[in-house]
Amino acid sequence: MAKRISLTRYLVEQQRVAGHIPSELRLLLEVVARACKSISQAVNKGALGGVLGSADSENVQGEMQKKLDIIANEVLIEANEWGGHLAAMASEEMDGIYVVPNRYPQGEYLLLFDPLDGSSNIDVNVSIGTIFSVLKKPEGDRGVEETDFLQPGSHQVAAGYCVYGPQTTLVLTVGDGVAMFTLDREQGSFVLTQENVRIPEDTKEFAINMSNMRHWDEPVRRYIDECLQGKEGPRGKDFNMRWIASMVADVHRIMSRGGIFMYPWDKREPNKPGKLRLLYEANPMGWLIEQAGGAATNGRQRILDIQPGHLHERVSVILGSKNEVERVTSYHSAL
Ligand code: AHG
Ligand code: MN
Ligand code: MN
Repeated sequence: MAKRISLTRYLVEQQRVAGHIPSELRLLLEVVARACKSISQAVNKGALGGVLGSADSENVQGEMQKKLDIIANEVLIEANEWGGHLAAMASEEMDGIYVVPNRYPQGEYLLLFDPLDGSSNIDVNVSIGTIFSVLKKPEGDRGVEETDFLQPGSHQVAAGYCVYGPQTTLVLTVGDGVAMFTLDREQGSFVLTQENVRIPEDTKEFAINMSNMRHWDEPVRRYIDECLQGKEGPRGKDFNMRWIASMVADVHRIMSRGGIFMYPWDKREPNKPGKLRLLYEANPMGWLIEQAGGAATNGRQRILDIQPGHLHERVSVILGSKNEVERVTSYHSAL
C-alpha cells in the first residue's frame, strides 16, 4: 500500500528537507488546517447543528452575514490567537485588524482570511470554503498596524483554501508548487492526495456569472461572445460553462481540470473595481493559480503586483488556464 503522507509530515518535510518554511510558519499552517477541520464539522452538521440561516447583521462591506460566516470567523481567530506565531489577523467579516491580545506572545506573521466563501450556497448545501493568505509583518519594533497588511500578493509566504464539498480538501502553497490534502474523517487528519498540481494551459470551460452580461465591459463581452460562437466562431471549438458562485469551488475545479474564472469589473457599481476582495480572495487564489502554472490578472495587471490601498479593497479577477487569461488580458489592452 502506498504510504500516507499527512499534512503534518508534509510540512515537517517542507521545513526540514526542502528548507522552505520556518517552524513558526509550519505551526501557523497546522493551526489554520485544524480550524478548517472544525469549520468542516460545523458545515457537515448543517441544520442539525443550528448553523444555517442569517445572523441578522451586516459586515463592513454592507453584506448580510450568515451564521456560518460568523462561526467560521470565530473558529479561525480562537484557533490562531494563542499560538505565538501571529501578530495580527484580518478578515472579510471584521472591519479592522485583530491584534493578538497582550496575554499571548506576538509572532511575526499576519494572517488574512475569507472565513466562509460562497455564503449564498450555505443554506442550499452546495460547496463552500475558507480562503487564507499569510504575510510577514514588516521589520521594526513598533506595534502592528493595518498598513502592515497592505503588501502586494507577491509578498505572500503561504496561501491556501479549504473546500467543504463532497470531500473536504485543503489546497496549499508555500511557494514550492501546489499540494492538495483530503480530510480523512476517521483519522481526523489531512492526507496528501496530490502534489505538483498543474493547470492545463488551454481550456474549453469558462466560469462567469452570465446574468451580469449586460453590465460587462467590452473586452469581457468580446471574449465570452467568441466562446459562445463555438466551433463555428473564431475560437474554432465549443466551450462549456460552469458557475458555482463559490470562488473556492470554481477555483478548485480549475485546479483539477483547467478552466478560466472571471469576476470582472462591471457597470452595476462603476466606482468599485470589482466584487472580490484583493487581500483575502484574489491574492491567495492568484498565487495558488500561478504556482500551478496558471495566470491571474485584473485585465490589465498581474493581480500579485497590485499595491493594495486598503484592507477590504476590491479587484477585478480573471484567473485560470494561462493561455485563456492572457487572451482576455490582451483584449483589455487592445482597446
Ligand atoms: P463571499 O461569500 O465570501 O462574500 O464571496 C462570494 C463571492 C465568490 O465566492 C463568488 O465567486 C461570488 O461572490 C459569487 O457572486 P454572485 O452571487 O454575484 O454570482
Ligand atoms: Mn468570498
Ligand atoms: Mn466570505
